[in-house]
Amino acid sequence: MDFELTEEQKLVQQMVRDFANNEIIPQGKALEDQHEFPKELLKKIAKLGILGMTVPTEFGGTQTDELSFILALEEIGRALSSFSVIISVHCSLFCYAINTFGTLSQKDTYLPLAASGQTLGAFSLTEPDAGSDATQLKTRAKRDGDVYVLNGTKSWITNGREADALILFAKTEKDEKKKFSAFIVDKNTPGLHVTRIEEKLGLHASPTAEISLEDCRIPTENLLGKEGQGTAIAFQCLDHSRIGIAAQSVGLAQRALDEAVKYAKNREAFGTTLSGLQAIQFMISDIATQTEAARLLTHKAALLFNKGKPFAKESSMAKLFASEAANKIAYLALQIHGGYGYSREYIVEQLFRDARAFSIYEGTSEIQRLVISRYLLKE
Ligand code: CAA
Repeated sequence: MDFELTEEQKLVQQMVRDFANNEIIPQGKALEDQHEFPKELLKKIAKLGILGMTVPTEFGGTQTDELSFILALEEIGRALSSFSVIISVHCSLFCYAINTFGTLSQKDTYLPLAASGQTLGAFSLTEPDAGSDATQLKTRAKRDGDVYVLNGTKSWITNGREADALILFAKTEKDEKKKFSAFIVDKNTPGLHVTRIEEKLGLHASPTAEISLEDCRIPTENLLGKEGQGTAIAFQCLDHSRIGIAAQSVGLAQRALDEAVKYAKNREAFGTTLSGLQAIQFMISDIATQTEAARLLTHKAALLFNKGKPFAKESSMAKLFASEAANKIAYLALQIHGGYGYSREYIVEQLFRDARAFSIYEGTSEIQRLVISRYLLKE
């Protein structure tokens, strides 16, 4: 077992850390407060090749090992959670789905543009009445000659408003119970409308959209995989992307630790700095230990993925632990800041709100426990 990163991994980590410190952090709070999608930042980070990290070079990407990608998401997540989820969905779900399940023609059409940042991708599984119970989706895809006609409503779509294309799941007439199909849907398809942007507790720079599909005609060549294979595609993609959500949780936890230490060293009370008080020292120790444990679980899941070994149980464990830890850590970091932590002036207030999404999206903590226990009881 080697806990040392490779030279290449260290280089990626340093490059993204510098970008996070110099480009993202200085404007992160303003973007968040103004609910502004970070369009210019996306263009800049695309130049570093980050948006192509899950795309092979033959399709214009900069594919690295999974841990390098995870280290990048961790650094971005430390700077701004909204930005990391935008990138995670684009790379870990959209690009990954097409690269893993797409035909050569689908890869040629979508991956080079997505990898270079000229287009943005989204992943649309959830519906108003089908969240955790994802196989109950109601959106229908009816075959009509060489097109599928899609009707339904999809919700909670990260990048849904800004994306150029979506991986979208719907049921065809042939799909059996609990089975559905996957489609690559261009955003400019007639009949596709963004009907709502959610008003959320946090992640304000990452708009979450609802989309309605009214007789959207999708060419049959945009079916991803085979009819009925969408169920496996959706869940396999989520197995993968949950490592990314774990990574952004670790990033947020690290930021909370950094902010808590900085504040504790400067704030004076009871004739010392907060850092001289044992109650605060213990909180900081707990934050650091939980962060490191979350990081190790996350890196382990990424390394298993790299080796082509089963990783889904470990991905769910990493997502479960890291997202729950991020919430506890944000709570403690805010507590250390006292009244100032409850004020918008300090970043811990934003971390506290953003972390809440991590244990909900891409599978709630309860769904992760379900997935983990199924593996354990099957093994
Ligand atoms: N990989 C491949 N196939 C899988 C799979 C996996 N990980 N998990 C299940 N399947 C297959 C099963 O084998 C089964 O097919 P067969 O009948 O051919 O064997 C089929 O899928 C249905 O599986 P189950 O019978 O296990 O279905 P279930 O209803 O009991 O449980 C679930 C499924 C695990 C609970 C699933 O619904 C789930 O993961 N729900 C959570 C959904 C989720 O994570 N949503 C996040 C939305 S995306 C998002 O948030 C992105 C964003 O914008 C931020």
